[in-house]
Amino acid sequence: MRLTDRVALVTGAGRGIGRATALRLAADGAAVVVNDIDAAPADETAALIRAAGGRALAVVANTVDLAEARTLVASAVAEFGKLDIVVNNAGTTRDKMFHGLTDEMFDFVLDANLRTAYHTTLAAMPELRDKAKAEIAATGRPAYNRKIVFTSSVAALMGNPGQFNYTAAKGALVAVTKTLARELGPFGINVNAVAPGFVETRLTAAKESGGTYGIPQETRDQLLGIIALGRFGQPEDIANVHAFLCSSDSDFITGLTIPVTGGQLGGM
Ligand SMILES: NC(=O)c1ccc[n+]([C@@H]2O[C@H](COP(=O)([O-])OP(=O)(O)OC[C@H]3O[C@@H](n4cnc5c(N)ncnc54)[C@H](O)[C@@H]3O)[C@@H](O)[C@H]2O)c1
Repeated sequence: MRLTDRVALVTGAGRGIGRATALRLAADGAAVVVNDIDAAPADETAALIRAAGGRALAVVANTVDLAEARTLVASAVAEFGKLDIVVNNAGTTRDKMFHGLTDEMFDFVLDANLRTAYHTTLAAMPELRDKAKAEIAATGRPAYNRKIVFTSSVAALMGNPGQFNYTAAKGALVAVTKTLARELGPFGINVNAVAPGFVETRLTAAKESGGTYGIPQETRDQLLGIIALGRFGQPEDIANVHAFLCSSDSDFITGLTIPVTGGQLGGM
């Protein structure tokens, strides 16, 4: 229960990695604000947390809009009194080889992966930075380290055909992790990122099964061959590292992007 008394916000927590992260943070003792753009999955995640004895609040918001990000943070504070941890997990793909990329696909993916993280983190500054600043003024140090986590991707570390838009956004997250770590370090705020490899969610399901998301089965087979541990990741594999970066166990780590790939060649 290393997150007892902490309040965490996880974006994109209705499904996949975000849901596993919300469940894990709650299991570690945090009260969790479950954000998604889709109400039913967000409610379901919150219900799963409550059924396991945890505290959760589902909030539908699309933080591409800064006003919605501010409302989201206000909801967290209204329900749980404060906010200590932000996991910027929301994201999605619209893959296309570069020569066929449209402005619409570029903007959509930049918004979903980067602007959501920018706005959610900005909206949380009064809770993270201002609170720490007041504690430093009063006692010389923050009461405890607060945490910001970004969910990047190994695609940004090694490049990935068809993902100009996605790697632009996820690469930017690697860069802003370093910038914010420097800005917010004096306030005892750790800023880190996780770069998942291939994790089994709807984003990586076989494309032949239909739908907007997914990748071709042939690519899935090739990928499996370059993963040292010989299996695809599960959402819980990423949630474990998100949770580590949200806990005091990582208090002396900041500005880092941790690949969690099972040992994927080219992006260990
Ligand atoms: N699955 C992988 O292999 C993999 C690899 C690397 C990185 N990632 C990253 O991990 C994160 C989670 O991905 P996943 O695989 O669990 O995907 P997922 O599609 O299963 O879940 C993502 C959730 O985010 C929500 N979401 C999308 N846009 C949003 C917005 N604007 N505001 C709030 N919520 C929003 C979706 O509704 C969905 O519930 C994403 O940032 C993704 O890019 C995934």
